[in-house]
Amino acid sequence: MTAGADQFILAPLRGVTGRVFRNTLADTFEAPDEAVAPFIPTFAGERVKPALLSDVDRSLEQRIPVIPQVIGKDPAQLATLLRAFRAMGHTRVDLNAGCPWPFVVKKGRGAGLLADETALEAMLAVGCEVMPEGFSVKVRLGVKTADLLVRRMELLNRYPLREVTIHPRTAKQMYEGAVDEARFAEAAALCRHPVVYNGDIRSFADWRRLKARFPQVSRWMIGRGLAANPALMESIRAGEDRPFPEDRMRGFLEAYLLATGEELSGRASVLGRMKELWSYLAASFADGDRLWACVKLCRTVDEYRRVLDRIGGSR
Ligand SMILES: Cc1cc2nc3c(=O)[nH]c(=O)nc-3n(C[C@H](O)[C@H](O)[C@H](O)COP(=O)(O)O)c2cc1C
Repeated sequence: MTAGADQFILAPLRGVTGRVFRNTLADTFEAPDEAVAPFIPTFAGERVKPALLSDVDRSLEQRIPVIPQVIGKDPAQLATLLRAFRAMGHTRVDLNAGCPWPFVVKKGRGAGLLADETALEAMLAVGCEVMPEGFSVKVRLGVKTADLLVRRMELLNRYPLREVTIHPRTAKQMYEGAVDEARFAEAAALCRHPVVYNGDIRSFADWRRLKARFPQVSRWMIGRGLAANPALMESIRAGEDRPFPEDRMRGFLEAYLLATGEELSGRASVLGRMKELWSYLAASFADGDRLWACVKLCRTVDEYRRVLDRIGGSR
């Protein structure tokens, strides 16, 4: 089985899949077809701080076509942010109705929005009005139990959404435990919008198995799999699992370090960004445990560079 006409979307991973990561990935490896950017929160007031939007700024280089994502629960605030995206030239925006963090859910945002039918409806109405044909939603199966999304499908079906991305876990599960493929199948069958599958695609074999189980799905979102192996699209497009390319990873990591240094000020934030990625990457290296232990200890960019020098067993 090959990925032929199927499309792949880089998932939003806040702290990892920002513009610099996306561009470096596309410079070094085969890129996914598009990317949903990490969420941008709605805010009170009309003045949009440019820094808030820089990750999805189309006047800056975006090597992977990028779709902004919003998190919030106030329709008027959503409208303000959507207008700002439109002014930047965006015609598509995604609404986060899946973030599982308890402090987010408690405030009625992310997966908490899925739990509040009235608030969700108000957000869908505004989203589809301000971003016609370009508004999509990313959801989970539910908050505590996996039956909520299925109950919300009638509401989602009433609005002209571009697509619905389903991560088949509950918020309670966070990102761990088994994905519930049976519930995904049930929700996808009820959904009249195109459905994007998202969850635990880490290899070509994973994708092939899912495609065989859900042949009607043609759009796939991948997050941690691409953070752990930025070359993963090459395996999927080639139709075979290829070895993790340690040699090319070194160039990728050097370029990522350099570009992050240009984007962020302060070595702590640059190193923080590197360590965030390494928490996913480490497992892919033959010598990953040792490299990760060294990366964690780095206090300066020079120390980090010396760790990169060891990649590929050169030292
Ligand atoms: C560190 C981290 C940050 C995330 N940030 C976002 C986010 O900003 N917006 C969102 O919709 N999902 C976010 N997610 C969820 C992912 O987009 C994705 O749904 C989840 O990781 C499952 O897909 P995967 O198994 O391919 O990683 C985040 C997940 C993680 C682990």
